[in-house]
Amino acid sequence: MITRVIWVFILIVGLAACQPQKEEINFPKTDMGKVALIPKPLKTIPTHSAFALDGETAIFTSQGNPGFESVAKFLSYEIKAKTGLVLGVNSEADKKTIERVVYINQSDSEDLASPEAYQLYVKKDSIFLNAKTAAGAFRGIQTLRQLIPEQTNDTLTDHPLWLIPTGKILDEPRYAYRGSMLDVARHFFTVEEIKKYLDILAYYKFNVLHLHLTDDQGWRIEIKSWPKLTEIGGASEVGGGPGGFYTQEQFKEIVAYAAERHISIVPEIDTPGHTNAASLSYPILHAGGKADKPRVRTDMLVGYSSLHTRKDTVYAFLDDVIREIAAISPSPYIHIGGDESHVTKKKDYIHFVEKVEKIVQKHGKQMMGWNEIAQGEISAESVIQLWNEPHNALKAAKNGSKIVVSSAEKMYLDMKYDSISEYGLTWAGLIPVDVAYNWDPKTYLEELPQENIIGIEAPLWSETISNSRELEYLAFPRVIGFAEMGWSAPEHRSWDEYKVRLAQQLPYLKSMKVNYYPTKLVDWGE
Ligand code: ACM
Repeated sequence: MITRVIWVFILIVGLAACQPQKEEINFPKTDMGKVALIPKPLKTIPTHSAFALDGETAIFTSQGNPGFESVAKFLSYEIKAKTGLVLGVNSEADKKTIERVVYINQSDSEDLASPEAYQLYVKKDSIFLNAKTAAGAFRGIQTLRQLIPEQTNDTLTDHPLWLIPTGKILDEPRYAYRGSMLDVARHFFTVEEIKKYLDILAYYKFNVLHLHLTDDQGWRIEIKSWPKLTEIGGASEVGGGPGGFYTQEQFKEIVAYAAERHISIVPEIDTPGHTNAASLSYPILHAGGKADKPRVRTDMLVGYSSLHTRKDTVYAFLDDVIREIAAISPSPYIHIGGDESHVTKKKDYIHFVEKVEKIVQKHGKQMMGWNEIAQGEISAESVIQLWNEPHNALKAAKNGSKIVVSSAEKMYLDMKYDSISEYGLTWAGLIPVDVAYNWDPKTYLEELPQENIIGIEAPLWSETISNSRELEYLAFPRVIGFAEMGWSAPEHRSWDEYKVRLAQQLPYLKSMKVNYYPTKLVDWGE
């Protein structure tokens, strides 16, 4: 620690001693407080000068900390993508020649209360980013990316500079869980499509992507001990397309890509309903009774399928599935679905949930599920995702369970924006961009104690969408508002002020070739 501080001190003093003539350039007055940052940081204190990012800037990190070095490399990569500048990371050669430094510092400061908190100090000749963890540093570099202007200062055409406003940002998330969900079962999305969505979620400081991996229309994750799940159950989708599935290697590739962005993948195996694809693959799993006989389903109906809840084979099956997924999934959670099991008798449903919770726990994970699972006597460590029925979530909260808020009427990204927008459904109502932004989880359900809410998640069901273009149309710009809802202090959120910052995301969205719904509620300036 001491040596690190001394080293940085020498570096900065050295820099100050050999400041080049460029220091004399009169940069225009800046205002860090006016940059369109999303999510809005907790505290921003502008000092109205500028750090000139150029080819003689280098990035250094706390020594011997590979997590911090990875964050620095990510920053260097993104700076190159945005500006063309190539910035070295922890390069010995740079120590002698560089003029300005970005230093990403592992700090044990007590001011960094949350693991994802960070402090960003932008001065004329140095940028300091302090964080306790690599995740905090990663959130901090997203802010830094947003502070870099789109355009170079072209007064020096042979030496392009990007002027970053100086000042101080102290920031931390409101919620520890900030997620989006993608349904890859109704329509299959490729690994590349998921990676693109992850890139944008990372830019807005999300830390969870929940993948809804199985449903009536498709089973999308290879289970080696039950191969027909993907051979048969993965071969179709809504509308009759070819479907698809992730091999375990591909799933690991998604998990690793997300982890580089400090995002965890929550895998969902939806049970005991939404299991037509599983029962089609292995009819022994099928409940019989009121449940529809399994067949290839390409429609959008729900609530007609169920696993048999009294057969040992079904629990042996789930033990295998959960064991194989637990082995390739670092997330603490395995989501067991539990929604809309309309053809499972209530007593069978409760029996099922209580048994599956034990299987999840046996494999070292916490159970997560849609609010219906709280009908069972579940343990306090299981997490409830509240989408439609408050009474179940309230019961679970009373018992100590944590809640992720995913209100269908406010947060379902697959609801249409308005009467003229494309794609999407309307069963939970229309959700315009302002309605999606303009509410708060704290007041959504007054009886729910705040300390039980660990975060929010915006689900995107895929009955009406089948590729990145369509996914993005429904997700953007609404999901950006949920990024702010999950991260920023509620007293700092106001639609009128936010919508101006939202419009200024356009250059980034365009650079990422993101399709978005150009709602008239926002003045996009074009
Ligand atoms: C759900 O929308 N069925 C969770």
